[in-house]
Amino acid sequence: MSVTVVDHPLIQHKLSFLRDEATSVTGFRALCTEISMLMAFEAMRGLPLEDAEVRTPVATARVRRLAGKKLALVAILRAGLIMADGILTLVPNARVGHVGLYRDEQTLQPVQYFVKLPGDVADRDVFVLDPMLATGGSAVAALDLLKQHGAKSLRLLCILGAPEGIARVEGAHPDVEIILAARDDRLDDRGFIVPGLGDAGDRIYGTR
Ligand code: PRP
Repeated sequence: MSVTVVDHPLIQHKLSFLRDEATSVTGFRALCTEISMLMAFEAMRGLPLEDAEVRTPVATARVRRLAGKKLALVAILRAGLIMADGILTLVPNARVGHVGLYRDEQTLQPVQYFVKLPGDVADRDVFVLDPMLATGGSAVAALDLLKQHGAKSLRLLCILGAPEGIARVEGAHPDVEIILAARDDRLDDRGFIVPGLGDAGDRIYGTR
């Protein structure tokens, strides 16, 4: 089990504006999309390639293409949706699943309200998307669900991760690689990531 922090300068730069409370809803959305694309670029580094041949206007070229492995992006609603939008620009053929979870503000427990997954999710490389890994309850619930549907190749992409959430996912799903843009310091007593960026769903959708 591994945790990868994609600390590329472009991501760090964009993250500085994402964290800033003065960033507008429009800016926040654009930054989430861009950071997700950059994270996916790194997260997909290990995808298998296969040999192929094409005719260029000059000669025959030996080329490499993604092997027939099929991808699925699974967005944890709501905030994961924007990550899926960004990553789909890189892998437009990926199938997209949705898992609706919200975190009860009192208990911090995830409450599931919607599930729609690709029928062949068990055969796909699955990237689970949620900007925030706080207590880890939502991520663990989504990963549990995906495994119940037979998914075997799972990676978790979160923009920010708190140590508590990382440890919880590591404990429950040691086979799942976690890819983050930043590992933050801690959770506060409301379960918010510190220093964090606030409530990602509210900042994306302009609610609250
Ligand atoms: C937030 C966030 C994660 C979850 C993280 O969602 O987007 O899904 O909380 O917390 P956890 O790691 O402690 O489970 P929220 O419940 O606010 O729902 P929303 O995306 O619909 O706003």
